[in-house]
Parts: sequence; structure tokens; C-alpha cells
Amino acid sequence: MAFGDKMIQQDLSFDIRAGEVLAIAGGSGCGKSTLLRHLIGLQAPAKGRVLYGDRDLYASDAATLAALRREFGVTFQAGALWSSMTVGENVMLPMQLFTDMDGAAREQEARFKLALVGLGDSFDAEPSALSGGMTKRAAIARALALDPALLFLDEPSAGLDPLSSAHLDELILHLCRDLGTTVVMVSHELDSIFAVADRLLFLDTATRTMTALGPPRELQASGPEHVRDFLQRAPRT
Ligand SMILES: Nc1ncnc2c1ncn2[C@@H]1O[C@H](COP(=O)(O)OP(=O)(O)OP(=O)(O)O)[C@@H](O)[C@H]1O
Ligand SMILES: [Mg+2]
Repeated sequence: MAFGDKMIQQDLSFDIRAGEVLAIAGGSGCGKSTLLRHLIGLQAPAKGRVLYGDRDLYASDAATLAALRREFGVTFQAGALWSSMTVGENVMLPMQLFTDMDGAAREQEARFKLALVGLGDSFDAEPSALSGGMTKRAAIARALALDPALLFLDEPSAGLDPLSSAHLDELILHLCRDLGTTVVMVSHELDSIFAVADRLLFLDTATRTMTALGPPRELQASGPEHVRDFLQRAPRT
């Protein structure tokens, strides 16, 4: 991955398994958000490929890429809601843009998605009336609007209090276990990583490559030293 001549990460080779929660961690600025952009079809790798099934995202024509991307739900790191629309309108927007659902069907679906993330009462709310945790969950409801096979979350629990963060973890597990959604989540919250991630991909800042991929507890016990250090910052029960 590169911006012009500036190489961000190299020699990344990993798979995302259907039905898993894959966490991506690493120091600030190492390229986690950039990796997500590569995975969702927004930024082509300087070298290499991103395959979805057997299809190369960046060798696909625009129409195919657009169709593939509709299977991806995304919340961005700074991702907020459109402040000029209600919460419900935010969640209905992808349906309005990408489906031929009528207004009543869109509303029903949006209310269902909001209930799923615990915001059943917020359909008519203005985004500015939501707390930080509620905003994160509303953004996830919008990401779920088109029933994505894959959900990409960039730091979903950053800045949340422990209780809101724990609720978000439960939501992610529910999506994964009960709906079969595959989740790729950038996170540096150890509690979250241990609670929800099947595997952790660690991007190293110094060497600019991935230095670990595996179940968090295995990496905590026997991963490379800097990854063990990262996973041992807080006591775990
Ligand atoms: N549009 C851009 N043009 C040039 N460089 C960029 C661009 N976006 C990001 N970068 C650089 O790429 C590197 C990786 O950025 P990225 O946002 O992916 O890091 P990150 O791991 O998500 O960081 P954080 O933990 O702070 O969110 C940084 O050095 C950043 O300055
Ligand atoms: Mg980032």
C-alpha cells in the first residue's frame, strides 16, 4: 500500500474467513484505515491484489466493482451521520440510492436495523441528539442497511465509555453469530479484541508489514514480543 512514493505497508498476505471477526491492530499511522480502504474497493494497491472470492476487486470493471461493494457495509473512523437528515433518513439513504424499495419498505427496514443496534426509538431523532455511543451504533445500522455479507468497522469503540463499548461488542457478536455477517474491525481496544475477535492481524509500524495473524489469546501467549506487549497492556481475567 502506498501514497505516491510513500510506502505504507508491504508484504501483506492474509485471508478473511466467512463468518469470522477479524480485528486489525497496530500503532497510530501504521496503515489500518488505509488497509480498510483497500479491502472495500476504494484504494487500489500499489502492488498486489485484493480478491473477493475469486474476483480481483481492482481488475473488475466499474459496474462489477460497484456491485461487489454493495456487499460491504462500512463505518469510517471519523464517520458520522449526515446532520441534515434524521437518523432514520440516514439509514434509509443506501436503500434509496441502491435499491428499488418503496418508502414504506425502506422505513420498515430502517426501523428494523435501528432496533437491531438498540436504537429502536431514534428513527426520528436528529443526529446531534445522539450520544457518541449511539452515533456509532446508528452508523452501524446504516452500514447494515443493505444486509452486507461483510461489515468493515474502523475503530467502532474508540472514545466510548466501557459500558457502551461492551454493548457494541455484544452487537458485533450478535451480527456475526446470528446473522452470519463477517466482520473486519480496526481496534486498539484490548477488551473488544479479546471479546469479539476470532483472529487478530497486527500491522507493525517499524517494519511496515504484518507481524502476526492469529487468535488473540494465542498471540498473547506466544506471539512476537511487540505483539505480546501490545496484548498485555491491561490485565485480563
Ligand atoms: N490521503 C493520503 N495521502 C497521503 N498519505 C496518507 C493519506 N492517508 C493516509 N496517509 C498516510 O498513511 C499512513 C497510514 O494512515 P492510516 O490513516 O491508514 O493509519 P492508521 O493506522 O489508520 O492510523 P490511526 O490509528 O491514527 O487511525 C499515515 O502515515 C498517513 O499519514
Ligand atoms: Mg485509522
